[in-house]
Amino acid sequence: MSDTPSPTPSPATPETPAENPGAAAPASGLVRDIVVRTLGVKKIYKMGDTITHALRGVDLDIYRGEYMAIMGPSGSGKSTLFNMVGGLDKPSEGMVFIDEVDVAALDSYELAWMRCRKIGYIFQSFNLLPTLTAMENVTMPMVFANVDPDEARDRGYDLLQKVGIGERWNHRPGRMSGGQQQRVAIARALANNPAIVLADEPTANLDHRTGAQIIALLKSLSREMGVTVISATHDHNMLDICDRVVWIRDGEIERIERREDLNIQVGSIDGGKH
Ligand SMILES: Nc1ncnc2c1ncn2[C@@H]1O[C@H](COP(=O)(O)OP(=O)(O)OP(=O)(O)O)[C@@H](O)[C@H]1O
Ligand SMILES: [Mg+2]
Repeated sequence: MSDTPSPTPSPATPETPAENPGAAAPASGLVRDIVVRTLGVKKIYKMGDTITHALRGVDLDIYRGEYMAIMGPSGSGKSTLFNMVGGLDKPSEGMVFIDEVDVAALDSYELAWMRCRKIGYIFQSFNLLPTLTAMENVTMPMVFANVDPDEARDRGYDLLQKVGIGERWNHRPGRMSGGQQQRVAIARALANNPAIVLADEPTANLDHRTGAQIIALLKSLSREMGVTVISATHDHNMLDICDRVVWIRDGEIERIERREDLNIQVGSIDGGKH
């Protein structure tokens, strides 16, 4: 088997914003590159006699380099959608393309390959390995990707510098603040130059000011490295800087808004939808 899963071309042609309401306008009239595409995605969970329609047919295009926030009430399907666009689970119906690869066509080896190299994950609770140093946490995904150890160390140090904690490369998570730990987790997510970073409530365990710093960092890194950031969030700071917000309700996209069209008011960011 070759080292690289062969991409299956996404069947649809790129859309203009007029065909895809809420799409961010192309910067210079150029067609934008789609990095994730979901087509009619449904997810049904069966537990005994209970059947839950967690996603009821989601069509969503996410563009390369875009910063997208996913909002919705508890149980609306945000994590389920995350699992789909992150290649962590497969739909019951419909198709998901990640960087032009049809996720359903991948075997378990190819899926692992994609998750390791194409996607970086950031979690609410940081999820660093406590016995490893910052550097070891960041270079861990590079070990899985068979990166040469010298190169991994150089890249690890470079990433730790980028996220502002280069001098703490030898510290273990227990000796770092929450904000510092999340910086390590961001560096780890970027370890293998992913096309996509998935962040599930990345600021929920941080104070407001630290959360704002983490969001600003994610934004500048996404611009600098051209990485697509997809984040479930309830954080005003995130809504202030994201390119688009997808509002999910009962397993369906309720609406998609561009940031400039958002009317964010303190205390009513979700439009009273909870
Ligand atoms: N593994 C599972 N097995 C059975 N039902 C599930 C499973 N995962 C999610 N569900 C159900 O699917 C629906 C959507 O859940 P999901 O976790 O996607 O919601 P969410 O929007 O992420 O909620 P929250 O904001 O609380 O995290 C819910 O009704 C949930 O109970
Ligand atoms: Mg969830």
